[in-house]
Amino acid sequence: MKRYLVTSALPYANGPIHFGHLVGAYIPADVYTRHKKMQGENAIHISGSDEHGVAIIMGAQKAKKSCQDYVNDWHKEHKKLFDLFDIQFDYFGQTSAEYHHEEVLKWFEALNEKGLIGPKDTQQLFCKSCENHLPDRFVEGECYECGYKHARGDECPNCGILIDPTKLINPVCKICGAQNSEEVTVTQWYLLQSKFHDHFKDWLKTKKDIWRKTVYPFVEALTEKGLHDRAITRDLDWGIDVPLAEARGKKLYVWFDAPIGYVSNTKQLFKETGSKEDYLKDWWNNPDTEIIHFVGKDNIIFHTVIFPVMGMGSGRINPPSDVPANQFLNLEGKQFSKSSGWYVDIEEAFKNFGVDSLRYYLLSILPETSDSSFAWKEFGLKVNGELANNIGNLVNRCLKFWKKNWSDGLDARFFEGFSESDHGKAFKEALAKLNECLDKKQIRKGLEQLMSMGQMANTFFSDQEPWAQFKTEPEKAAKTIAQSGIQILILGVLFSPFLPTLSGKILSFFDLSLEDQIKQKIYRGDWSVLDQLFKEGGVLKGKPKALVPKIEDEVIQKLTDELHQGK
Ligand code: MF3
Ligand code: ZN
Repeated sequence: MKRYLVTSALPYANGPIHFGHLVGAYIPADVYTRHKKMQGENAIHISGSDEHGVAIIMGAQKAKKSCQDYVNDWHKEHKKLFDLFDIQFDYFGQTSAEYHHEEVLKWFEALNEKGLIGPKDTQQLFCKSCENHLPDRFVEGECYECGYKHARGDECPNCGILIDPTKLINPVCKICGAQNSEEVTVTQWYLLQSKFHDHFKDWLKTKKDIWRKTVYPFVEALTEKGLHDRAITRDLDWGIDVPLAEARGKKLYVWFDAPIGYVSNTKQLFKETGSKEDYLKDWWNNPDTEIIHFVGKDNIIFHTVIFPVMGMGSGRINPPSDVPANQFLNLEGKQFSKSSGWYVDIEEAFKNFGVDSLRYYLLSILPETSDSSFAWKEFGLKVNGELANNIGNLVNRCLKFWKKNWSDGLDARFFEGFSESDHGKAFKEALAKLNECLDKKQIRKGLEQLMSMGQMANTFFSDQEPWAQFKTEPEKAAKTIAQSGIQILILGVLFSPFLPTLSGKILSFFDLSLEDQIKQKIYRGDWSVLDQLFKEGGVLKGKPKALVPKIEDEVIQKLTDELHQGK
C-alpha cells in the first residue's frame, strides 16, 4: 500500500509564526495530509522546531536566555499557535533533542564514508572588534548581485542567491555592530555535491512534468552547470558537534541538520506511539512512499538539491516525490514588516475572527502559482460573501426549517435515492473534481471546487422553494429538506481537510454517529452509506446555531485604518 510522508518546513524557534508561514507550508501541508487520511490512505504529517544556527544564537543573546531555554519557549509558542489554527502534526519535535542529534550523526558518518564529505580551506569573515567568526547571519552587507542593502552572510533575502560572505559589500558584524572585519582562512568540512552531479541530474529529470512550474525550471537552471560543494560546518558554540577529531569545537551547519529533522521526528513518532513501523524501511526508504515537502519558495534549493543529495548520497532515504513550494504572501501588496508596523497580529486576528474565517480566507489566497496579498477589506468580503453567504446561510436556512417543522425527525423515505438523483450525480461529479485538485496539491482550486458544490446545494434548495412546497405539498417539502440535508452532511464531511472546526460544527447538528470510516466513505463518494445512516429517518440535535459570524464593516474599517496609521 502507498504511503504519504508529508513534511512542512521546520519553523525556526526564533520568532512568531505569521500568515506567510501558514500559507507557505503549514496550511497546505495540513489540508493535504487530512485529505489523504480522509481518502483512507496511510499518511503522516511531520515537522518540528528548527533550533540551531546563528539566528537562534543571536535571538537568545538578545532575550538574555540560554539557547536551550530560548528554543524551548518558542517551540511551545509555535505548538500553541498551530493548535489554534487547527494545524495537525503526527509529530512536531525539536532539533535540539538527543534523538535528533543521534540521527544526524548517522548521516554525517554515512556521507563521510562514501567520500561525500571533505575538508577545505575557506575564506571567511572575522570581526576584529568582538573577535568572533561571522558565519551566516552574523554578518550583513550589500548584495553583490542585486544591491539589496541587508543581504546576510548566507543568502540574500531579496534576490535569493546563496551568498559568499567575503564578497559582501561593506560587511557589518551583527554581534557588535562594528564594520571592522577581516578575511581569515579557516578549514571547514564540505558536502561534496559536485561529485554527485550526474546522479542528481538523472534524478531531477524525472521530475520535469511532475513538479510545479515555479519549482522545476528554477531548480534546473540553478543546477545545470554543476552542483557547488557546500560548507556544512561552522565555528559556533550551539549546534551539533562535528564528529571528527580534526574538527573539534566546530558545529554542523543548521541547514545540514534541520531537514534531517523530518526523519528523526518520524523515528521518534513511532518510538513514542509504540509502533512497529520502521521509520526508514517502511517509510523514508520505501519505494511506495511519496515524500512530499511543503515549503516556502525561499527553501526550494535546500529541499530540491541539498537534502536530496544528502539522502541519496548517504543511502539513508529516498529523494522527495514532490516539493510543492509556495510563493510569498504580502500585506496589501507590500512585504509584511513588523518593525515598520506593516503587519497583522496573528493572535489578535484569531481572537477577533476565529479559525474558520481566517483559514478560509488564507486558503482562498494561497500563493500556489504566484505571490498573493492579504487585505482586510477582501477578508471581510470573502468571509461574508462566500463562507457566510454560501455555506453558513444554507445550513442555517435548511436546518432551521427542518427543526421547526419536523422536530421529531424526517421520515427515512425522504432521504432515499440521493445517489441516483440528478442532483446527487452532479454532486458526485463535482466531488471527483475536488479530489483531483487536492491530489494534485492544488489546494486553492480545491476550495473553489468545494464552494461551487455549496453553490449547487444552494441552487437546489432555492429552486425547490421548500417554504412554498410546505404550504401545498408538505411531503415534497420534506423531501427537499431531507435531500438538502444530505448535501449539507456531505459538505460538512468535505470541509474537514480545509476547515476542520467548521466541519465538526456542521456534522454535530445531525443526530448520527459518524465514525471515521463512515466519514471516509462519504468523502470518497461511496454514498451507499447514506441510506444506511438515515434508515431510521433523520433527526437534528439541539438547535442549529449560526455557523459563520458576519464580519461588520466597521471592524474591517478600523483594522484597515490602524494598519495604514502604523499602529
Ligand atoms: N527553518 C527554516 C526556515 O524557516 C526551514 C527549515 S526546513 C528544514 O526557513 F528542512 F530544514 F527543516
Ligand atoms: Zn563584532
